[in-house]
Amino acid sequence: MSYPTTRMRRLRGSETLRRMVCETRLSRDDLILPLFVVEGSGVREPIASMPGVFRQSVDALVAEVKRVRDAGIPAVILFGVPQAKDARGSGADAADGIVQRAVESIKAAEPDLCVMTDVCLCEYTDHGHCGIVADGDVDNDPSVERLAATALSHARAGADIVAPSDMMDGRVAAIRAALDGNAFPNVAILSYAAKFASAYYGPFRDAAESTPQFGDRRSYQMDPPNRREALREMRLDLEEGADALMVKPALPYLDLLADARREFDLPLAAYQVSGEYAMIKAAAARDWIDGDRAMDESLIAIKRAGADWIVTYAAVEVAGRLKP
Ligand code: PBG
Ligand code: ZN
Repeated sequence: MSYPTTRMRRLRGSETLRRMVCETRLSRDDLILPLFVVEGSGVREPIASMPGVFRQSVDALVAEVKRVRDAGIPAVILFGVPQAKDARGSGADAADGIVQRAVESIKAAEPDLCVMTDVCLCEYTDHGHCGIVADGDVDNDPSVERLAATALSHARAGADIVAPSDMMDGRVAAIRAALDGNAFPNVAILSYAAKFASAYYGPFRDAAESTPQFGDRRSYQMDPPNRREALREMRLDLEEGADALMVKPALPYLDLLADARREFDLPLAAYQVSGEYAMIKAAAARDWIDGDRAMDESLIAIKRAGADWIVTYAAVEVAGRLKP
């Protein structure tokens, strides 16, 4: 049956009909807000390339998570921006490190909030790479040891979910073993399984001071053209014991989210990264696009492609626009 019997516009004619045929809805429950933690107290420092995003000291974060809770957002993911850095990223697994203290304070203030931690070394190493460097490249196996120690220190501080973002081989299994071997069988792993060497991380690296001091991340993060390889990465992480898988960045990689949705049954996360956020904010600031609508449209596209969880710097503002 086709036109004129079939008229697609029949079910588009009113707000009510559009509500009734809506196939994808964004919910507050889908959203995860990234937060940057710095040393000091009373610090709430804006990040120039990410309007509305701040680097905050632990005390300021405690106030921030109350707003997150009031917005109805279930989860945050923490990134540490420490003062001291060294070759092995000693700050990453320090019991009194910046993220560890933030986790403790946030869980004490908001026990029901799901606290995730980004597990990586790049914010803590003086060379800015995500692992231990030997002979000019990141050395996989010693890096995995450091990452497992870091994840364990986050669990000790009270993290609910640890999220390794380094892209070393074997890190999910090593983290699972470290958690289970130290009486944290219930701490979950959200693996940044398909993480690409992307130009869209630019603003984040300014915010986290984690730009590599030599070379780039292409010997460990994925090459953007590769789709089958991304599925292999996700399958391996699942087999190593990941509880949830992430694709990152989000909008330029929706095909992979759709593939992963068909292939896997575990929760899928997508990370709308700093560059995706910054582009929308920058164009909106010039009145070149309607920023709110562009943001909502991006997030619904990510959801439609198959994401259960969306990590986005816009979580609080978007939650404010959603119907309760
Ligand atoms: C660190 C990490 C990065 C992001 C999340 N974790 C940066 C990178 O890999 O260079 C990017 C987040 C963003 O751009 O918003 N491993
Ligand atoms: Zn890293």
